Amino acid sequence: MTFPLHLVVNGQPHDLTLDDPRVTLLDLLRERLHLTGTKKGCDRGQCGACTILVDGRRLNACLALALSHDGASLQTIEGLAGPDGLHPLQAAFIAHDGFQCGFCTPGQIMSAAGMIRENQADTPERVREAMSGNLCRCGAYAGITAAILDAMAAQASHPGTSEAA
Ligand code: FES
Ligand code: FES
Repeated sequence: MTFPLHLVVNGQPHDLTLDDPRVTLLDLLRERLHLTGTKKGCDRGQCGACTILVDGRRLNACLALALSHDGASLQTIEGLAGPDGLHPLQAAFIAHDGFQCGFCTPGQIMSAAGMIRENQADTPERVREAMSGNLCRCGAYAGITAAILDAMAAQASHPGTSEAA
């Protein structure tokens, strides 16, 4: 038995056929579409390394069955930069040393992009709370928080620059 699936990933339409209804969005992205920027840390919803945006909302891709999101629009770290260069969050992570090994970074950045859309955090404390689902084993939290606040400030002064594509 096969299962048809239509997804838009980083603006590109994909018509796929699954032979297993248990395939997660994370495995689909990494193994079928070769978008390996989205990382598999725990594979059980505990680390946030697999965070992507699904219809504009952040989601742990390791917990999401692909078939449950038929017709959805996905954005991964590969789709974040614009034609003019890095997304403001990406630039801010570099400027603030928001990573060490970098394994958690795609998930951190995609989660931050979703968090900014949610418009729920405007202080370091609230940013840390809103980002608490994304773990960093290197402990780069100070840089991560500073980068996000910087990107939020950039968005406030140039509205639209940090909108997810
Ligand atoms: Fe998905 Fe850890 S790999 S939350
Ligand atoms: Fe290494 Fe976060 S930068 S896990």
